[in-house]
Amino acid sequence: MGNFFPRWTNWLPLKLAIALCFILVGVTLGVTYYFTPKYTRVGYEPTQPVPFSHKIHAGQLGLDCRYCHSFVEASGHSNVPTNQTCFNCHGVGKGNIRSNSPKLEKVMQAEASGQPIPWVKVHKLPDYAYFNHSVHVNRGVSCVSCHGKINEMEVVRHDQPLSMGWCLDCHRNPELNLRPLEQITNLNYNAGQLDRAAFYKSLLDKGVKPAEIAAEIPGGRSLDQVPADVKGLVELAEKAYGGQVAQKEVGLQLKKHWQIQPPESCAACHR
Ligand code: HEC
Ligand code: HEC
Ligand code: HEC
Ligand code: HEC
Ligand code: HEC
Repeated sequence: MGNFFPRWTNWLPLKLAIALCFILVGVTLGVTYYFTPKYTRVGYEPTQPVPFSHKIHAGQLGLDCRYCHSFVEASGHSNVPTNQTCFNCHGVGKGNIRSNSPKLEKVMQAEASGQPIPWVKVHKLPDYAYFNHSVHVNRGVSCVSCHGKINEMEVVRHDQPLSMGWCLDCHRNPELNLRPLEQITNLNYNAGQLDRAAFYKSLLDKGVKPAEIAAEIPGGRSLDQVPADVKGLVELAEKAYGGQVAQKEVGLQLKKHWQIQPPESCAACHR
């Protein structure tokens, strides 16, 4: 019998199979890469029924986020304000600010009809993931870590992926994001603005021992003589971090002394 198929064709099915595997893996990787939330959700910026600008209200006017998102510290859910909050300033017979502006027409209609303004939701986790605002905001995580610089946005835009990997990135290294509680809604905050002596004093005032504070500063554990007061701690910190307060310096202290332990177990977020 003649050898009808040349010898190399014996390997053809195997070669095809291997090639197919590579293609499949490639396509799967590509799909997960481009269709995971980072690429589909970041930048999402729906048109709202009223051209409400955070840049004007939170930026220029300097209104605190909690003036409108009043439940954010107290509850898992952060509310969007009711019309009443807008009427405080724009309502006829009250603030009257620009109440004739066409941009405020829908707000005026809402006042007359009593119907809520149908704001379009920007951020939404799937139902199977559990999230709570107050546990973050009361533990030193600022709005800016998760929503970006809202105070500079004309229209609210989805700024961060809010994916599982993104949640876990911070849960593993929370010190990169922790700040004093009075700075939570200050979206322009950076650690360099803090007064170092005042920061360490605030820890001492809360009853933290100087030795416990020093232990969180690089070089502080191996000292023969532990600094006894604010002055000593400031000197040690200057040696480790330089003239300006560093984010990591603040973050490591708060993590330790507020006993911050963000969960990484599946059941914490999928309950
Ligand atoms: C004067 C009231 C007011 C203030 C002050 C305010 N907001 Fe808002 N915020 C709104 C309204 C109204 C909406 C819904 C319409 C929109 O998305 O623009 C909203 C929407 C949002 C959303 C999107 C909600 C969603 O649908 O997912 C975020 C996030 C947000 N605000 C964060 C902030 C932060 C952070 C601050 C402080 C820097 C702040 N807001 C200050 C009124 C306010
Ligand atoms: C603390 C007072 C205050 C509150 C509360 C407030 N606003 Fe305003 N708003 C202002 C001021 C001040 C301006 C800027 C007017 C200007 O540019 O001269 C403004 C401007 C606006 C404009 C632009 C008007 C134009 O013609 O350019 C819109 C739209 C608007 N606000 C909607 C809202 C909505 C919706 C709410 C409720 C979620 C709200 N505001 C809550 C004070 C307020
Ligand atoms: C640790 C991350 C994180 C921080 C910090 C955070 N948010 Fe959110 N925010 C989210 C997530 C996630 C959602 C979507 C929640 C959902 O779908 O259940 C959201 C949704 C919102 C909404 C829409 C309403 C809602 O609850 O669905 C508003 C308004 C809001 N955030 C405002 C704020 C303000 C104001 C602050 C700061 C005081 C803040 N957020 C801090 C992650 C965060
Ligand atoms: C920028 C940092 C940061 C991000 C981003 C973040 N977290 Fe957290 N998370 C924390 C910190 C800090 C705590 C508080 C830990 C403590 O109190 O010991 C916490 C606590 C929690 C807890 C435990 C408290 C509770 O409610 O039972 C859950 C659940 C949680 N986070 C879910 C999430 C989810 C879901 C996301 C993503 C959508 C997320 N977190 C994103 C920092 C973050
Ligand atoms: C810090 C909170 C957090 C923890 C811990 C966590 N998840 Fe998630 N998980 C999320 C969030 C938020 C989403 C939704 C992400 C999105 O919208 O894309 C998610 C999505 C998922 C999905 C859907 C597929 C996907 O990737 O989008 C699966 C499956 C999943 N988680 C399994 C797990 C398992 C298994 C564990 C434990 C090893 C775990 N998760 C731990 C927050 C968490």
